[in-house]
Amino acid sequence: MSHHRPWPWPRIQAHRGGGALAPENTLAAIRRGCAMGFRAIEIDARLTSDEVPVVIHDRTLERTTDGKGAVAQTTSAAIARLDAGSWFAPEYRGEHVPTLAGTIAFCRSQGIWINLEIKRAAGQIARIGEVVARTAAQGYGDLLRPGGDRAESVVAQAPLLSSFGREALLAARQAAPDLPRGLLVDDVPENFAAELDQLGCVSLHTDHETLTRDKARAVKDAGYWLFCYTVDDPARAREIFAWGVDALCTDRIDLIGAGFA
Ligand code: G3P
Ligand code: MG
Repeated sequence: MSHHRPWPWPRIQAHRGGGALAPENTLAAIRRGCAMGFRAIEIDARLTSDEVPVVIHDRTLERTTDGKGAVAQTTSAAIARLDAGSWFAPEYRGEHVPTLAGTIAFCRSQGIWINLEIKRAAGQIARIGEVVARTAAQGYGDLLRPGGDRAESVVAQAPLLSSFGREALLAARQAAPDLPRGLLVDDVPENFAAELDQLGCVSLHTDHETLTRDKARAVKDAGYWLFCYTVDDPARAREIFAWGVDALCTDRIDLIGAGFA
């Protein structure tokens, strides 16, 4: 899906909802970014044991909640009871792990755009792509139009799905063919154009630390959007934007503001 089109979404996105300023992947984080002028976020989605998509980064609950064990082996009812705020600071006590559907509803009410990362978990790899994409498509059902996964006809308010998982991206394409997709990588692969084409992706999302001017130029010359994670240094952000990078996410929403680029 090579296209040479201008990036249609916000160029600066708050990583995990509110960057490093609030408990990640919570509505409190999104509110924090929103209060600072952000109208674009990157968030992470996983499936509970009963296949409810929830917004959480890690495979397990320990780091960002008061629960234990794998998200994929915990019911949505049990996850809904967890505290996802206290680990960060006492004033966030009682913050919940949000459902993806609830997060989408909240973001739509606030005019916040979502870069929705589909995380992988053993045994759920294709299923998570399918369920997350279907949930996203339902959340934006009134806006989506046929072929909205193509760069020339994306709906600017609807999310971009992203994943390191090729299988998850293919399942997402099958379940929600009208939502655009981006492939996440640690480094720009030699055969990126063939991979993006095969997966029907409009963008490549790479770690900025492995990006060089030449790699950025190759992706842009091939006609794909180029996104970088996770850029916390304003000088580095300026540098990669000068190389043609279209957008980035940051934890330092205090240093790289919504109007930075
Ligand atoms: O979506 C880009 C970035 O979020 C990937 O890294 O581990 O923070 O989800 P991670
Ligand atoms: Mg992520």
